Amino acid sequence: LEILLKGLRRLEYRGYDSAGVGIDAGNGKDWESNAKTIQLIKQRGKVKVLDEEINKQQDMDMDVEFDVHLGIAHTRWATHGEPSPLNSHPHRSDKNNEFIIIHNGIVTNYKDLRKFLESKGYEFESETDTETIAKLVKYMYDNRESDDINFATLVERVTHNMKNVFVCVLCRRGSPLLIGVRSDHKLSTDHIPVLYRSCSYNFSGKDKKSCNALPRMDQDTCLFPVDEKAVEYYFASDASAVIEHTNRVIFLEDDDVAAVMDGRLSIHRIKRRAGDYSARAIQTLQMELQQIMKGNYSSFMQKEIFEQPESVVNTMRGRVNFDNNTVTLGGLKDHIKEIQRCRRLILIACGTSYHAGVATRQVLEELTELPVMVELASDFLDRNTPVFRDDVCFFISQSGETADSLMALRYCKERGALTVGVTNTVGSSISRETDCGVHINAGPEVGVASTKAYTSQFVALIMFALLMCDDRISVQPRRREIIQGLRVLPDLIKEVLSLDDEIQKLATELYQQKSVLIMGRGYHYATCLEGALKIKEITYMHSEGILAGELKHGPLALVDKLMPVIMIIMRDHTYIKCQNALQQVVARQGRPIVICDKDDYETIKNSSRTIKVPHCVDCLQGILSVIPLQLLSFHLAVLRGYDVDCPRNLAKSVTVE
Ligand code: G6P
Repeated sequence: LEILLKGLRRLEYRGYDSAGVGIDAGNGKDWESNAKTIQLIKQRGKVKVLDEEINKQQDMDMDVEFDVHLGIAHTRWATHGEPSPLNSHPHRSDKNNEFIIIHNGIVTNYKDLRKFLESKGYEFESETDTETIAKLVKYMYDNRESDDINFATLVERVTHNMKNVFVCVLCRRGSPLLIGVRSDHKLSTDHIPVLYRSCSYNFSGKDKKSCNALPRMDQDTCLFPVDEKAVEYYFASDASAVIEHTNRVIFLEDDDVAAVMDGRLSIHRIKRRAGDYSARAIQTLQMELQQIMKGNYSSFMQKEIFEQPESVVNTMRGRVNFDNNTVTLGGLKDHIKEIQRCRRLILIACGTSYHAGVATRQVLEELTELPVMVELASDFLDRNTPVFRDDVCFFISQSGETADSLMALRYCKERGALTVGVTNTVGSSISRETDCGVHINAGPEVGVASTKAYTSQFVALIMFALLMCDDRISVQPRRREIIQGLRVLPDLIKEVLSLDDEIQKLATELYQQKSVLIMGRGYHYATCLEGALKIKEITYMHSEGILAGELKHGPLALVDKLMPVIMIIMRDHTYIKCQNALQQVVARQGRPIVICDKDDYETIKNSSRTIKVPHCVDCLQGILSVIPLQLLSFHLAVLRGYDVDCPRNLAKSVTVE
């Protein structure tokens, strides 16, 4: 139970409106004989509440046997059905808890399945799509043709009737699932061969055509240590839940069904598809436990904001050579020639990652001389956007698992475009399914509101732009200017972070306001969007990022002496136009807070309030202008009394469409 609860706490960033555990109370009974040994404990709210409930039950009911050897646990982000104990996972097949299930994703055909099962007399207790899976397992088990069906085969049959993405413990489709393997002994192999079964099942649970019983597990088909007893398996949707137990993991592929029997692990698939790997390797993760601990900070978000001087260095490490002004990106080296020949770049992402695309679009256009489109993944798909074979499509994603971005990736692949991943998660779906890519190496990001991942994505895309033009003589002075800007960037970030007290003070003046407008243009439009998103996400204040060029076309109507306005004015090619926007706001009695260059005496003189940041090369300045807004949103949320890391209704990694 401690392992499960710890794992849940690490996964809370994925959703935290309710949580539950299902444990085998461990009286030694077989799953087939009687399922009454399974205990379910579920609560609305965060994992802490579940933990308290477990302790309470333990105190009250001495009969509850908590000495468990097997359990599953889940923290929920509601899609179907409001957060409540009944709607939280695990869900069960019947009152005896014969089969229990946890699930991430959406079963799109759950209504049909539920209608069918209700017509067969199954009673539902929740409003969730997941519960249909538990009932269907029971239905198929009750209607089995022969008694020697085992659990893995049953799961395969059930998954065959589910539509769309899901991951149940032990089977994956769409949403991530990995297996942590721990053993103090040498394992017999570091690869697990995949067992293929060429058969399918229809809805009644009867085989459409006969197929072999599950292959026998023997030395060739399963993983076990030389000393068979000493192996532990951890199934989780994210490595952070298992990292304190083991750093050796197997990433499952879509449609894999993994089974553990008698301490032996095997992986099965129903059908073999072209390009399938025939084995799953055990990989060693580089993540350290300490990286996912808060340390001395009050929240992960605060820690991650203050890590940025180091995280951008980690993004550049071994890639940018400041002495000879070169950039190497190992993950692109086999494809860079092809990328240089393309006709168009399309950057596709969601949320903050989308803003990283907006932030770097201009310099990408400048250095590649290619048309660059920046797209929100969901809208890109809704529009059925034309994609061609000579397009290069970038998928920017911190988690590498965002369902909309992943769907867009598959869409572009089908159309023959070259796909490039920019992710922070080694082994994630996007990093595995793209043709090539760049790991941003920012280290695990836990706070739901993304901060260090944004600045590292920014740097990664700049490095890509530099690589694209490394042999064009005419742009060398510009390249050198940017690379030397990257060299000083960590120190300049530190300087911006030293404004923390000043920004905290500003937050005390603003935190009771309803709304904040953030205005800027050019390189800083992305900062406006990203700053406003940070404020919305964690302070629940209304905030809007406004392109200063559009001010006169509508937003100016919002400005009066009461409306808080933040303006970004930097000394780049938009400076004069930004000064005009400032005058337009001041003329409407607005009293904007201006984020500006610390040496820009003109702006400082004309503004009632300024946040002064150091100067950097224009295309990197957006990194320095966004950090004050990250800090401001953090302080506003603290002053308003909200949970900074777990904002209401949001999840860090959105693995449903
Ligand atoms: C969620 C998170 C955001 C994140 C977005 C995209 O909405 O709350 O912080 O920016 O997903 O996530 P990704 O992992 O693809 O960058």
